[in-house]
Amino acid sequence: MKFALVLALFVLGFAQVNVTSNQQGTSGGVKYELWMSGSGSGCWCYIKGQGCAFHGHWSNCGDYLCRAGNGGSTLTYAYTKTGSGGGYSFIGVYGWTTNPLVEFYIVDDWFSGGGNSGGSQKGSFSQDDATYNIFEHTQTNQPSIQGTATFEQFFSIRQGQRTSGSINVQAHFDKWNSLGMKMGSIYEAKALVEAGGGSGEIDYTSCSI
Ligand SMILES: *[C@@H]1O[C@H](CO)[C@@H](O)[C@H](O)[C@H]1NC(C)=O
Repeated sequence: MKFALVLALFVLGFAQVNVTSNQQGTSGGVKYELWMSGSGSGCWCYIKGQGCAFHGHWSNCGDYLCRAGNGGSTLTYAYTKTGSGGGYSFIGVYGWTTNPLVEFYIVDDWFSGGGNSGGSQKGSFSQDDATYNIFEHTQTNQPSIQGTATFEQFFSIRQGQRTSGSINVQAHFDKWNSLGMKMGSIYEAKALVEAGGGSGEIDYTSCSI
């Protein structure tokens, strides 16, 4: 009986976490991070404790990134979204490598006005039923997992937005490598929403990576 009660509390109560300020952690075995450059009552990310699924909500939070997952070679996802994401926004796979420090994005969707890397195009390729355009952009003295730093950003941006599907993550890593875009050791690869402003939300109904 006691064990069942503890188990029920774990399943019902402790696998989910509603994150309302900059924080990283593990919930129900899933790693997550919320990072914002601003703050506000409408800025939160509810980690569902079911794979990388989360419910993110922003309202004038500055730059808002919620991400979840433990890395892996494939992201399979489905979600609904509403609202706006400011001047830039990205939904898909996100992570970092170290040595060299690289911030990477595989972008399947965005809010109106988003989906722009600001970088120069390095190539394109067909993958997962679409063409992805590949960009590289240098961030100079910007926030990173190692504090303020100068580093490269790699982007694959899908031509044709979608709100469900599977992303072959390794295929993008391999393609970037073949274009001379060298990654380091994987630090993280997670499901992401990033919004550069606006007010909106995203709610993953399923997510695994
Ligand atoms: C998360 O917390 C915020 C702030 O308290 C609240 O407004 C929001 O409804 C919560 N989200 C969920 C899914 O519980």
